[in-house]
Amino acid sequence: MHSETRLVLGGLTTLAVATAALVVLPYLTVRDTPPAPGLKPYTASALRGRTQYIQHGCMYCHSQQPRARDFAPDAKRGWGRATVAGDYAYDDPPLLGTMRTGPDLMNIGVRQPGEQWHLGHLFQPRAYVPGSIMPAYPFLFELRDKAEPGETVVTLPPGFVPEGKTVVARPEALDLVSYLKSLDRSYPAIDPTTTN
Ligand code: HEC
Repeated sequence: MHSETRLVLGGLTTLAVATAALVVLPYLTVRDTPPAPGLKPYTASALRGRTQYIQHGCMYCHSQQPRARDFAPDAKRGWGRATVAGDYAYDDPPLLGTMRTGPDLMNIGVRQPGEQWHLGHLFQPRAYVPGSIMPAYPFLFELRDKAEPGETVVTLPPGFVPEGKTVVARPEALDLVSYLKSLDRSYPAIDPTTTN
């Protein structure tokens, strides 16, 4: 056999073994995982909010994968127990994230259940967390002289809304917050080895 042929065959074999071990096997292992008991399906609004979360790049700064105690003190940080496959049953694709510029959000709905807090924080993170480096998302809101009946007015700490103006949440903001509030994996995990 030519050495070139050996090189190519060796390369292809390595690639095939790596794909089988890192892609095919994990896929076969978790593809039929049923939803964790206790996990609620997303509402239509939360699902639209999930799309917003993707579109605005929230996962570039936020993970959704609290880790086991042996790896990181995530539970002590208040981010919740290590997740199991069934926790992601309704997530396609799961928004695991790779960076933690901000806190893990897998259980933000438990930690921060207030709609007004979320809306205000999205409008201006620095209104609640001085020095926060999270970007503001003002385009999810409208500045008006007054709100129409049925609209959600956002109450912010003094100094963050221009004099005489009212901040009204657009439907996109309400959907995104309904998604954030639905992030709750505080029920027990099925696999006891990962419950820490
Ligand atoms: C450039 C990085 C960055 C991006 C992009 C970003 N965040 Fe953040 N986020 C942070 C940081 C840093 C904090 C911690 C300070 C704070 O609370 O403002 C944070 C905090 C939060 C918190 C409060 C977490 C807690 O434990 O109290 C929520 C909720 C949140 N972000 C949601 C979002 C959403 C939704 C988006 C997308 C629309 C987003 N973030 C985009 C960096 C980011």
